[in-house]
Amino acid sequence: MSQMQGTTERNQTAISQFLLLGLPIPTEHQHLFYALFLAMYLTTVLGNLIIIILIHLDSHLHTPMYSFLSNLSFSDLCFSSVTMPKLLQNMQSQDPSIPYAGCLAQMYFFLFFADLESFLLVAMAYDRYVAICFPLHYMSIMSPRLCVSLVLLSWVLTTFHAMLHTLLMARLSFCEDNVIPHFFCDMSALLKLSCSDTYVNELVIFVMGSLILVIPFVLILVSYARIVSSILKVPSARGIRKAFSTCGSHLSVVSLFYGTVIGLYLCPSADNSTVKETVMAMMYTVVTPMLNPFIYSLRNRDMKGALISVLCKKKILFCL
Ligand SMILES: *[C@@H]1O[C@H](CO)[C@@H](O)[C@H](O)[C@H]1NC(C)=O
Repeated sequence: MSQMQGTTERNQTAISQFLLLGLPIPTEHQHLFYALFLAMYLTTVLGNLIIIILIHLDSHLHTPMYSFLSNLSFSDLCFSSVTMPKLLQNMQSQDPSIPYAGCLAQMYFFLFFADLESFLLVAMAYDRYVAICFPLHYMSIMSPRLCVSLVLLSWVLTTFHAMLHTLLMARLSFCEDNVIPHFFCDMSALLKLSCSDTYVNELVIFVMGSLILVIPFVLILVSYARIVSSILKVPSARGIRKAFSTCGSHLSVVSLFYGTVIGLYLCPSADNSTVKETVMAMMYTVVTPMLNPFIYSLRNRDMKGALISVLCKKKILFCL
């Protein structure tokens, strides 16, 4: 017994850091992918920052929809900053180590902003549903109090969920193997490395994951389905085209996000190769935060107007 305790202790102290293997990219293409990821990260940061600043500056955009959008942009910005800088640094430095505490912190913030994103997408779908199906009551239903409550509730739930997983992960001990075949400290990759019993963790991932991913996804689908059906009741060619282009682009981002996350965490199949999993993880950690600003706002006339008026006021552009 005491010998067993001795080995566990020694093993636990042995793992003070993990090695992030990164992406399965052949060495001759490293530079190309480095440039690509750097460009994607900068686009994400810039696109989302511009949206936050525009919404803050332009008083026409102080409505529930844009306050959710600004929150989503903030969440996207942080979400990609949890993984991308470390990935870029690892690609450059050839030193793939990350301290144990850093790894848990990365996992915590990763979960936190992924959940926040998920809740905000629900709030935005609900907002559009109220705006299109009950246009006359929109202002009274989506009161500032409801908006703040929805955002606060998202923060509380997401803190609780991320904390739960991080504490459960901190209980586990890790033995010799500290190589993570991934580009960030992913929960399921860490579970595979652990030499403790991970049954509780897997159970919690499954139960909480179903609640926190499937319920929002279904709510979003229901909102958009009701939007589409209410538009089809009073058909007009222009209205239909507009509805499908808006809902279609929102739904494609939403499906990309939830589809890959649900596929990875709720239906892990044994034949999933590491490469396939990494590419799927890339989709929701890098691609969706980059696309969100473009899909949700920059196609939007109010946002374009706000951009031009802010640039003109600040004399950045020469305006006629
Ligand atoms: C998020 O939404 C809340 C509630 O509408 C708003 O008060 C807050 O300013 C928003 N935060 C950001 C960063 O946009």
